[in-house]
Amino acid sequence: MSRYKGKTALITGASSGIGAAFAHELARRGMNLILVARSADRLRKLADHLTAQHRVRVEVLPFDLVTDGAAERVRAEVSQRGLTVDLLINNAGFAAHGNFEEISAARDHEMVTLNVTALVDLTHAFVPQLLARGGAVINLASVLSYSPTPYMAVYGATKAFVISFSSALAEEYRGRGLRVLALCPGATETAFFDVVGSDSMIIGAKRNAKQVVATALRALERGQSVVIDGVGNAFMANLVRLLPFALAARAIAVVTRPKTAPTPRTAQASEQ
Ligand SMILES: NC(=O)c1ccc[n+]([C@@H]2O[C@H](COP(=O)([O-])OP(=O)(O)OC[C@H]3O[C@@H](n4cnc5c(N)ncnc54)[C@H](OP(=O)(O)O)[C@@H]3O)[C@@H](O)[C@H]2O)c1
Repeated sequence: MSRYKGKTALITGASSGIGAAFAHELARRGMNLILVARSADRLRKLADHLTAQHRVRVEVLPFDLVTDGAAERVRAEVSQRGLTVDLLINNAGFAAHGNFEEISAARDHEMVTLNVTALVDLTHAFVPQLLARGGAVINLASVLSYSPTPYMAVYGATKAFVISFSSALAEEYRGRGLRVLALCPGATETAFFDVVGSDSMIIGAKRNAKQVVATALRALERGQSVVIDGVGNAFMANLVRLLPFALAARAIAVVTRPKTAPTPRTAQASEQ
């Protein structure tokens, strides 16, 4: 993508946090927007604000992306409204934190469906038009993409999927006019940790959503396929990825272990 003005971005999870920050910045750059999330009221309010402020077209698509066939219904709705997408931002996602056996199977299933299945389905749905238009895809990965994440095991695995999938597609489409970027934020000040229910696993200060978006757009313009937001996050992620998986998991667990988790030593003792 060489310019933004007059083009159209579809942003999932646009009702808050990083998705809403993308909406603000892209509208400021003159892009028309298609905003997707479950909270219709919040999307409508954001759309009204951006339309008034930046004179761009903003469409609202209230969709639960965890439901069957959601991506195809989003594609059909976009086409029915006479729109074509130049930039797809697969941002909707959430995490759960705790002992694996205490997180319900249904919650983990929902997480895999949103963070992985919906992201792949939406990419399939829009790649033909993105390719034809020389567009781009930004997929939300995480610094946790680089290591196993005990106590957020399913979340970490979904984000490992995203970085692998995105880097592979970036290579497939290199030289064919379609850019694919995996965006890896570290802890960022959004509603994310309200959904997780705790931010006890964070070390250091959180970054903000505006900084994450600036990092992403800079990387996209440079043609990068992966970017980590923040120097401290990049340092930590690159350090952890040098370790063998078992050692990385051990190191991450020091930070992510919830207070309710038995320490490995207590667990061994109670098995005897
Ligand atoms: N914040 C961080 O520290 C951090 C770090 C690394 C990566 N990330 C990633 O960044 C992305 C954005 O997270 P955020 O920090 O901006 O969190 P957030 O403020 O909680 O935003 C999550 C967005 O996803 C939407 N969403 C949730 N479930 C959905 C569903 N079933 N269907 C459609 N939309 C749904 C939410 O809207 P509704 O509730 O209205 O549906 C909301 O707009 C996520 O992929 C997350 O994994 C965040």
